[in-house]
Amino acid sequence: MIITRRRILGAAILVPLEGLAQTCGIATPRQTEGPFFKTNSPQRINLIESGSKAARFVVVGRVLSPGCKPVAKALLDFWHSDEQGEYDNRGFRYRGHQFTDADGRFRLETILPAEYPGRTRHIHVKAQAPNRRVLTTQLYFPNDPGNKRDGLYQPELEMKSLKPGEAAFDFVVDA
Ligand SMILES: [Fe+2]
Repeated sequence: MIITRRRILGAAILVPLEGLAQTCGIATPRQTEGPFFKTNSPQRINLIESGSKAARFVVVGRVLSPGCKPVAKALLDFWHSDEQGEYDNRGFRYRGHQFTDADGRFRLETILPAEYPGRTRHIHVKAQAPNRRVLTTQLYFPNDPGNKRDGLYQPELEMKSLKPGEAAFDFVVDA
């Protein structure tokens, strides 16, 4: 009887915790910056190169405090590979930073980056509430078959699909 009660209790506790993990309250996991970060990216929400035929991709979401409050003016600095899986280390193609609005929201308009050897499709990002510690991490694409083959992939960092070409992710940072 005791075992049964424990099982029931465990299930009752696990369900709401899993729900929280997808929204807020649990800090976004940190991941390696990798070799291609560059400082001084341009401030912009649209990284699409003029004339590019690459598939478009939009990421929307919020930056939240550990107490689930929206963080206004949080810095988000994004960088990712191009449609060939290459990073621009001379210039700033597919690099840009922006700040969240008064409701902690952001919108990134870019392309679908390509996989490159050893890595599934991903977007690098640094997120920082004003005057707080920088969170460096990576975002993964919804249901991408490459995710399972990438040792760095973490399901907590997979964006939630909203519709084809658009996904959402909420960051929880020190604030
Ligand atoms: Fe990368």
